[in-house]
Amino acid sequence: MSLVEEIKKRKTFAVIAHPDSGKTTLTEKLLLFGGAIQTAGAVKSNKIKKATTSDFMEIEKQRGISVATSVMAFEYKDKLINILDTPGHKDFAEDTYRTLTAVDSVILVIDCVKGVEEQTERLMEVCRMRNTPVIVFINKLDRDGRDPYDLLDELEAKLDIKVRPLTWPIGMGKSFKGVYNLQANELNLFSAGQKQEDLIQFKDLNTPDLDNKIGKAYANQLREDVELIQGVYEDFDAEPYLKGELAPVFFGSAVNNFGVKEMLDTFIEFAPNPRPRETQARLVSPDEAKFTGFVFKIHANLDPNHRDRIAFLRICSGKFERNTFYYHSRHDKKVRFNNPTSFMAQKKSVIDDAYPGDVVGLYDSGTFKIGDTLSEGEKLFYKGIPSFSPEMFREVVNMDPMKSKQLEKGVDQLSDEGVAQLFVHNLGNRKIIGTVGQLQFEVIQYRLKHEYGATADFRPLNYYKACWIKSDNAEKLNEFVRRKHTNIVHDKEGNMVFLADSAWILKVAREDFPEINFYTTSDFKVEALAQVY
Ligand code: G4P
Repeated sequence: MSLVEEIKKRKTFAVIAHPDSGKTTLTEKLLLFGGAIQTAGAVKSNKIKKATTSDFMEIEKQRGISVATSVMAFEYKDKLINILDTPGHKDFAEDTYRTLTAVDSVILVIDCVKGVEEQTERLMEVCRMRNTPVIVFINKLDRDGRDPYDLLDELEAKLDIKVRPLTWPIGMGKSFKGVYNLQANELNLFSAGQKQEDLIQFKDLNTPDLDNKIGKAYANQLREDVELIQGVYEDFDAEPYLKGELAPVFFGSAVNNFGVKEMLDTFIEFAPNPRPRETQARLVSPDEAKFTGFVFKIHANLDPNHRDRIAFLRICSGKFERNTFYYHSRHDKKVRFNNPTSFMAQKKSVIDDAYPGDVVGLYDSGTFKIGDTLSEGEKLFYKGIPSFSPEMFREVVNMDPMKSKQLEKGVDQLSDEGVAQLFVHNLGNRKIIGTVGQLQFEVIQYRLKHEYGATADFRPLNYYKACWIKSDNAEKLNEFVRRKHTNIVHDKEGNMVFLADSAWILKVAREDFPEINFYTTSDFKVEALAQVY
């Protein structure tokens, strides 16, 4: 197959959701459709259950299991689909944000009882920064949820995206009758527990057969709804979807495998193939003959017997081949991989080649950090792998002065892996670690002890946000830094960062120094949104 054919065959996406909406369940059903797994429950073991902070080892164990299913590939209707798994636990949200840089589209799962939740909003902000196309699956229709019109309004209002329902629910909860496919004019009848889909086609909704099937009241309601929807919404158009401006919406029940196929078929038809990607120097098209790719995730094994790390590389252009020397742009040196790994649902296997859209696992002994780019010689750096402002800040306190070198190395390497962000204070070299959740501190403390022999404690710091600061006006920037010197730090790349004590202080700083831009992500390209975030 030619490179272009390989690219056209592939679709790489992630399922995202607020925890407990049904992401794992839906992923499993998609894999069942693709024949990648045979039984329900196979993906469940991968799920990080709601755990208390003291359970982080358990979580890491489960994360260990999840390496095998970090990327799940399957074939459906002649397409090769790569699903990139994202951690369910909110303390690892940053992992999810980074994974979103490696996909070409997403499926967003919403619980119809709860509607748009906090984590949904965050995830969608990240998608919007990159104009990632989104398909929405409103789940758990077998429960009494919110009114579908309200849900659609809420999606538009809170996620700042236009929506277009492509299926419509008939009833809900105990009286859930099924979904009507607004594109194909098909009625899909629901009966609890029954896994078979019972498709009935109605070209004309006014037929009395419809009343016989679902009862007069529901039939009339459906007729009204369909008329309203066709009146309110324009016909579905793939173009705004591909630009990330319009999200097609499906209703169903993942656990009952209901309404999933309609969504998958639409996904197969419209979801984007691997797309061109920005580097700092130029746009790289997937069909360029030369291979390029970037590392978006590093997974370290906490099992002391297998202290290996796997770097996850997304192929962006050309063909990646085993045992070939590639150019590591940051280190300015050539590297080669003997056993790159692919992930075919639950089975890890060594691969000989991979194409744009694919993700390969590279065994790594510390060569990589998040965002590293490989190429066939061109010095490239892929854009859009930002760090987001952490939510929690702590100062690293060395509890064993004999091990300060080890501590330094450990903190440095763990932040390269993306476990947390490291900021260094201008004054006295104090190290400040920023995370999105408590669990990450525990992971760091444990790993510093077990992998580096260093004992660290953390002193809580009450910062509100980390803002990367930039200005064309050097004088004003200097003045700001002088005035706020106790709150000025540098990130690992040497960028200047202001640690704001509160939202109010940040607001005042913005007002007092309009010449300075304050960004809450490190990727300045997405500045407009970052200002809001
Ligand atoms: P997540 O990955 O987004 O966190 O969610 P997950 O799929 O684990 O689903 C969360 C819970 O919601 C699970 O129940 C799951 O069975 C249930 N669920 C998923 N889809 C549907 C649906 O369509 N209808 C209903 N009623 N429930 C659904 P659990 O009790 O937490 O786990 P389990 O004991 O069922 O495994």
